[in-house]
Amino acid sequence: MKTPACLLVGCIVLAGCERAKQDMYDQPRYKPFAASTLFADGASARTPPPGTQPRARGGLADSSAGRAGTAAVQADIAAEQAQTNPYPVDLRLLERGRDRYAIYCMPCHSPVGDGDGLVVRRGFPAPPTYHQERLRKAPDRHLYDVIANGYGVMVPYGDRIEPADRWAIVAFIRTLQLSQYVQADSLPPALKAQLDAQPGAAP
Ligand code: HEC
Repeated sequence: MKTPACLLVGCIVLAGCERAKQDMYDQPRYKPFAASTLFADGASARTPPPGTQPRARGGLADSSAGRAGTAAVQADIAAEQAQTNPYPVDLRLLERGRDRYAIYCMPCHSPVGDGDGLVVRRGFPAPPTYHQERLRKAPDRHLYDVIANGYGVMVPYGDRIEPADRWAIVAFIRTLQLSQYVQADSLPPALKAQLDAQPGAAP
């Protein structure tokens, strides 16, 4: 045989030896729940020390070989496709939205959302107030899209704010709007009674 062909055959033959050469493939080990004479209790498995986190549970379970982030990507896609807020509006979501709003939106839109933020006071074009009929009636998805894609002179925030956080901010903006404009009749009876008892309340 010519030399290159010999080398090729040699490589193929030797490659088969790799498994036999590497003992780590076949080193002695116990299968789960196998008995052992090594420990006094006759079991091969040891009780993990207190506080040990099992790897196949919680957030860590998603991070082992090849599955890293799959669940997070699916959640992002679902959130991006939602037309209305897909999350239950609870305190946790609102607090998350409040914090993200404070970081990303408040400098221009102000703490109450009237558009009189510090950046605007220093010369940036003033955004519209959230407390106007058009934005009160705007669908959740419009607010989400403004965050993701920008609007007029406002830059997009899609590269910094995750889809789930965009919805959290949308929920918080709704809260801001309610804080300035609530229909008295929509209040729970106890609050309505409190409001009616205020001095100057409409009879
Ligand atoms: C650097 C200042 C600035 C920041 C930061 C900013 N905005 Fe704006 N925003 C504006 C301006 C200016 C406009 C008006 C744009 C226009 O009409 O050209 C606007 C408009 C809007 C509108 C109204 C869109 C409409 O239909 O009229 C919404 C809603 C909004 N922003 C939400 C947000 C949210 C939520 C954030 C935070 C994630 C944010 N903005 C961050 C400046 C900003």
